Amino acid sequence: MKNESFCLYFLFALFISIILSVRCDLPTDQGKVLYNAYCANCHMENGEGLRGLIPPLAKADYLSIYQDDLACIIRNGMKGPITVNGKNYDQEMIGFKDLNEIEISNIVNYINRAWGNNETAKNINQIKANLESCQ
Ligand code: HEC
Repeated sequence: MKNESFCLYFLFALFISIILSVRCDLPTDQGKVLYNAYCANCHMENGEGLRGLIPPLAKADYLSIYQDDLACIIRNGMKGPITVNGKNYDQEMIGFKDLNEIEISNIVNYINRAWGNNETAKNINQIKANLESCQ
């Protein structure tokens, strides 16, 4: 009997910790959901891009070098020739004016950590400062 109640207690504790850890993942989750809704149709679900047309985000040197520009790229889009991992791209990316700072922050943090990317996490104040410096 004693063992059984210990076991129930253990399962309950396990259940609570799973719920808590899922909740703590929420910001990354929102980033992933937003990425899949707004970005994946071009950059693809795994960030590999579309050969010759859409640059990759996964292990992209551009993403690494222009960390402080990511928030502005998401808000305002970009156009003009760029080179990503040695390949040239020259298409236009539309901006997403209706995404707020928190949503942009979650997307940036998602693409910075997904698919083997390993950039430093950014807090909301850094994203706000980045957005203020958009041209
Ligand atoms: C309609 C297609 C399209 C959508 C949707 C799109 N992009 Fe892009 N993105 C592009 C293209 C095309 C370029 C290259 C622009 C150029 O040549 O100047 C680009 C460039 C980029 C770059 C810089 C280059 C690189 O590979 O690092 C980043 C970062 C980026 N996009 C992130 C995003 C994010 C995040 C989203 C979603 C919020 C998004 N894009 C949605 C087409 C798109």
